[in-house]
This record gives sequence, structure tokens and C-alpha cells, in this order.
Amino acid sequence: MEKLAELKGVSRHYYLGNDRVKALDNVNLIINKGEYTAVVGTSGSGKSTLMNIMGCLDVPNEGEYLVMGQNTAEMNDKELSFFRGRQIGFIFQGFNLIPSLTAKENVELPLIYRGFSKQQRDYVSRQALERVGLGHRMHHRPQQLSGGQQQRTAIARAIAARPPIILADEPTGNLDSSSGGEITKLLEQLNAEGHTVILITHDNALAAKADRLIKIKDGKIQHDSSNTF
Ligand SMILES: Nc1ncnc2c1ncn2[C@@H]1O[C@H](COP(=O)(O)OP(=O)(O)OP(=O)(O)O)[C@@H](O)[C@H]1O
Ligand SMILES: [Mg+2]
Repeated sequence: MEKLAELKGVSRHYYLGNDRVKALDNVNLIINKGEYTAVVGTSGSGKSTLMNIMGCLDVPNEGEYLVMGQNTAEMNDKELSFFRGRQIGFIFQGFNLIPSLTAKENVELPLIYRGFSKQQRDYVSRQALERVGLGHRMHHRPQQLSGGQQQRTAIARAIAARPPIILADEPTGNLDSSSGGEITKLLEQLNAEGHTVILITHDNALAAKADRLIKIKDGKIQHDSSNTF
């Protein structure tokens, strides 16, 4: 198995007044290329903090995070954001779409920053929206789409440039079970096509579909299914 990302003794704490909150506490974790991992844990256990570090949106206070052969501690902000833009597709619970833009324009936006030509953007965004079953809704704005369709737009945006890593933080949290099921199926298909998928969820049934299950409690890994043979 090829190592994709590794957390070595990673801790992340916050101060609230004089109180120190340990959101992550000495986490050691290796994610291999092509894995489909679910991360579960109760509210406040540190899941989003873990995802933010894995997605290079945040950095550890202690320990090291290595991803695709690079030590993130040695990268500056510009290098981190370049890396994020190329290698990671993010999917959030709240969709995070821009309300004034159409579905297609939302998908195209990160491609502009990545230097795709107008023609390339047109092709790639159409392809991604068709892929998630929204070929007929490309020119609708978020408020003209259902929750499930908005999340599928967000997935199209995340996958349009084919990033090797997909990080999804509660992607079905705001959806009914049938729309949630569609999103889960899409994540499974993307994994089958070679994307490494890390899914954060409260939902144990959803998590059970992943190949690997990691449970977090109080900022620590309490259980990792890949350690039980
Ligand atoms: N910016 C911040 N400032 C202070 N404390 C924070 C901050 N972000 C997170 N925390 C604290 O760190 C801990 C872990 O938070 P995190 O968001 O990672 O939890 P989570 O597992 O994603 O929870 P949820 O399931 O509710 O999304 C919590 O106790 C939280 O209050
Ligand atoms: Mg969270």
C-alpha cells in the first residue's frame, strides 16, 4: 500500500480564556492511497479539526503532518493553498455554494484560480455536473435547487479538477435519507475510480459503508478498524 498522508503525534489545542481545549491530542494516523475511510465520533470529539488539518486548512500545534511526500510544516501559506487547490476536493455540510452564481459558475470558480481556460472550464464543469446527474440544472442558482442538488453541485465543484483526495465533512448532515443515499453512492463511485475518500459523519450506518472506520473521542483515536485483523 502506498502512503498518502501521515499524522505524526499531531495535537491541536485552542484557548478559551484560560481554558485549554485539546481538540486533537497526539494523533498518529496513516491514510493509504485509494482508501475509503469514515471518521466517526460525538459532537466536539475533534473530527472537523482533524479534517481541517488533513485538508491543510489548519496546522498542528504539535507534531507533523505529511501529505503526498511533503511535510506541511515546511510549506508557506502560498504553497499550502496551492497544494489544497490541486490535490484536495472539499465537501461541507453547508454546501458552501455562492448564492449569486449558477451551479455551473460555482463549479467553474475554482477552475479559474487554477488557470483553466474558458473552454476547458466549460468542458470540465459540464462533465462534472453531468456526472452528478445535474446536466439539466446547470443554469440554476443554489436557491433554485433542492438540498440534495446543492450538495451534488458542491460535489461537482470538488471533483471537477479530479483531485486525488476528497475530504467530506458531514456531507449528508443537512439532507433527507434519500438525497443522503445518492451522495453516499457518489462518494463510493469516486473511491472506486481511484480517489482517496475521507468521510466525516455522525451517521454510523453511513460510516459502515466505508472500508475503514476510525472512531475519535476527546481528540484521540479510540478505534481504527485497520488495526483489528
Ligand atoms: N476555533 C475554535 N476555538 C476554540 N475551540 C474550538 C475551535 N474549534 C474547535 N474547538 C473545540 O475543539 C473541539 C473539537 O471541535 P471539532 O469542531 O473538531 O469537533 P467535531 O467532532 O467536528 O464536532 P461536530 O460533530 O459537532 O462537528 C471542541 O471541543 C470545540 O469546542
Ligand atoms: Mg465537525
